Amino acid sequence: MARKIVVTSGKGGVGKSTVCANLGVYLSRLGFRVLLMDVDIGLNNLDVIMGLERQVIFDVTDVVSGKCRVRQAMIQDPNFPSLYLLPSAHTYSSSKITGEHIKNITDIVDHSFDYILIDCPAGVEAGFHRAVFPANEALIVVTPHLSSIRDADKVVGLLGEYQIESKGLVINRMRGDLLLSGEMMDIESIVKAMGVPLLGVIPEDDDVGKMSCDGRIMTDCESARAFTLLSENVHNGSKKIFDCTYKYRGLMGYLKRNIKKHC
Ligand SMILES: Nc1ncnc2c1ncn2[C@@H]1O[C@H](COP(=O)(O)OP(=O)(O)O)[C@@H](O)[C@H]1O
Ligand SMILES: [Mg+2]
Repeated sequence: MARKIVVTSGKGGVGKSTVCANLGVYLSRLGFRVLLMDVDIGLNNLDVIMGLERQVIFDVTDVVSGKCRVRQAMIQDPNFPSLYLLPSAHTYSSSKITGEHIKNITDIVDHSFDYILIDCPAGVEAGFHRAVFPANEALIVVTPHLSSIRDADKVVGLLGEYQIESKGLVINRMRGDLLLSGEMMDIESIVKAMGVPLLGVIPEDDDVGKMSCDGRIMTDCESARAFTLLSENVHNGSKKIFDCTYKYRGLMGYLKRNIKKHC
């Protein structure tokens, strides 16, 4: 049976789809069979982030309407053979697709995957229900900003109405330089405010967006190390968290911090 993890946040633009795509890639690199499900109906994202947009023939709405079977709509990632994507529709009246429909799909493919990662839309309405209903675990993505934390806190409350057995927190877009200078909310305070165990910290990194260019990932950048640790922690509870501040420590770090500030 697959672990079914919804990646959610409440607020848009905090990195849910980015975390979902990268977690999928890194779990597949660890040897697991992973299905990414984009249920942000009408605002497809994952196919674009994965660089698979041109390969989409059918999408999740075609599966629900019976136009095709689940397997016909799934796209195998050419760079990571154990990674599959079930894309969402470009345009559609999303109201017709319910959480029960999505759960029927996850039930069909449950035995073929180790992980099913569900990319949740922003907001807490029908789209949220559709994404959370089939899941049994949740990853809550926040950025180190009050508005993101406040929205995610509401989401954590709502998750109590579903069959979510475990929750984990991912802090995205963390800046090590601002963390050291005290200009960004620190990790401990965020974890305390959220009351959810920390699973990973992902740094602000321009290389994060490069995957969508050709579907391949950057392996020698900070975010790659952070996503590697996150995927290991999700899988085996290693508790190893990426330290965003390491390159800003010591004399050289002090100089880097100040150069960054004055650029
Ligand atoms: N750690 C990061 N560093 C730099 N840019 C990021 C990071 N995480 C996400 N982004 C960028 O932020 C934007 C929104 O991310 P996205 O994953 O689409 O958010 P959401 O799914 O929550 O709406 C994208 O342009 C993405 O490339
Ligand atoms: Mg998204």
